Amino acid sequence: MSTQDKIKKLIDLRSDAKLGGGVKRIEKHHSQGKMTARERIEVLIDEGSFEELDMFVTHRCTNFGMEKNKILGDGVVTGHGTIDGRVVYVYAQDFTVFGGSLSETMAQKICKIMDMAMKVGAPVIGINDSGGARIQEGVTSLAGYAEIFERNILASGVIPQISAIFGPCAGGAVYSPALTDFIMMTEESSYMFVTGPKVVKTVTGEEISVEDLGGADVHASKSGVAHFKCENEEEGLLLIRKLVSYLPQNNMEEAPVLECNDPIDRMDDALNNIVPDNPNLPYDMNDVIFSIADEGEFLEVHRNYAKNIITGFCRLDGQSVGVVANQPNYLAGVLDCDASRKAARFVQMCDAFNIPILTLVDVPGFLPGSGQEYAGIIIHGAKLMFAYGEATVPKVTVTIRKSYGGAHDVMSSKQLRGDFNYAWPMAEIAVMGAKGAIEVLEGRNIAKLETEEEKAEFAQKKTDEYEESFANPYQAASYGYIDDVIEPRNTRFRVIRAFQNLQTKKVTNPPKKHSNIPL
Ligand code: HXC
Repeated sequence: MSTQDKIKKLIDLRSDAKLGGGVKRIEKHHSQGKMTARERIEVLIDEGSFEELDMFVTHRCTNFGMEKNKILGDGVVTGHGTIDGRVVYVYAQDFTVFGGSLSETMAQKICKIMDMAMKVGAPVIGINDSGGARIQEGVTSLAGYAEIFERNILASGVIPQISAIFGPCAGGAVYSPALTDFIMMTEESSYMFVTGPKVVKTVTGEEISVEDLGGADVHASKSGVAHFKCENEEEGLLLIRKLVSYLPQNNMEEAPVLECNDPIDRMDDALNNIVPDNPNLPYDMNDVIFSIADEGEFLEVHRNYAKNIITGFCRLDGQSVGVVANQPNYLAGVLDCDASRKAARFVQMCDAFNIPILTLVDVPGFLPGSGQEYAGIIIHGAKLMFAYGEATVPKVTVTIRKSYGGAHDVMSSKQLRGDFNYAWPMAEIAVMGAKGAIEVLEGRNIAKLETEEEKAEFAQKKTDEYEESFANPYQAASYGYIDDVIEPRNTRFRVIRAFQNLQTKKVTNPPKKHSNIPL
């Protein structure tokens, strides 16, 4: 073969590999409104930045005549590229090749880029679209999954790991995404479950559709498995680009600081009027977040799950900040099992990746009742407390309105090593609300009174006294638990200045193998 022939051969092999499972299967894939693995990567990363690896890898299976059916690159496209100029490693399962099912060699390709990402300290983004374990390969495929799982675990908290689910993801295959930091699903074209509808029917008798069992809606709102739900693949890929911009490359670095054109001392008079005079009326905590954030931009995580707490990213003076905020507009912002788990996971992720945390508090307490107790509110609430208490990143807390009982302690209180704890003048920081407190303290005295009128008058008098003494921020401020009571319209400035001050914060936890967080 001449040199020119050899070069031509390379070019031909490359074009073969790029066709994956062939034109017909690509057409079928497109007809379902789905992009191919390479098209997805093109949207995800900066134009022209993709370096593909292992294009010539093929499977080694000889069962079921597989030796005659080899496709260059096998069922996954792997490599690295950049997002906004920062390196990321990517794998995208190719459904046109044996349904993207995982072979031993596919697992090796994925593990190779995960190892590389760990070596250079860069995020890994996995695009999942696969029929699961390659049936013809049997146990080597299962071993391949376990190799990936182990790497997911070791990389956790070291490099950001993001999973997009753009097709089937069933059986044990769901556990690789579940071990990563973020899961994104597309509406109607993606699903995740441990066992599919047919097995469910056989085992339990329940009849349920794929969508109802493990579609994007279910996982984004009911189970909380998915952090993001997108209408289509393009929207999902662009959202991953945005998400990456809030994250550092690895746990030894800080997230990038972007140029900020929004004045840090921008005041917002609307905040002085946002909290209603009646403490039982709601308002939208999102309005507070939008007002404080640079340019009003906020990337919400888990938007449709446990809406009584808000989690997400904003920038303050260009710096990436994780926001955790009770939402009085939904279940009065109460802390329940789901909200506690959601926020705990977010706080842990921020702490692992050196992202400072802003906590906005308006919480009436933990949700009472047997339902919550049986579901383990004690353990789930403890998760959030643990996450806050263990976190060493800068933590700034603003108590907007209610901060009652155990929930007060949990929500980044001073004693859980909150660095700067501010309160608005309408903050109420106490063991419980006035009504409950008066029932406990004065119930017997009220009962002794003869007429209903007398009872109501006495209860009101005691309630007023209680509110005067406790339903304000000044008792906490008199102990130094609140560092300052601030005017609402000035919140952005005060919070940014606090975080600026904390840039050199250094706190370490006692040496240990690892914590034993209440799981
Ligand atoms: C080998 C597979 C495959 C698999 C699909 N294909 N899944 N090949 N192993 N697991 C092949 C098909 O033979 C077909 O090949 C091509 O991929 C496309 O599949 P279709 O069935 O035509 O596509 P579609 O109708 O869209 O259905 C997709 C599907 C279905 C729902 C994913 O293929 C399916 O049910 N597959 C099996 C899923 C499964 O049970 N996997 C094992 C799960 S357990 P041709 O040549 O016709 O194009 C598991 C354990 C993991 O994964 C454990 C980890 C610890």
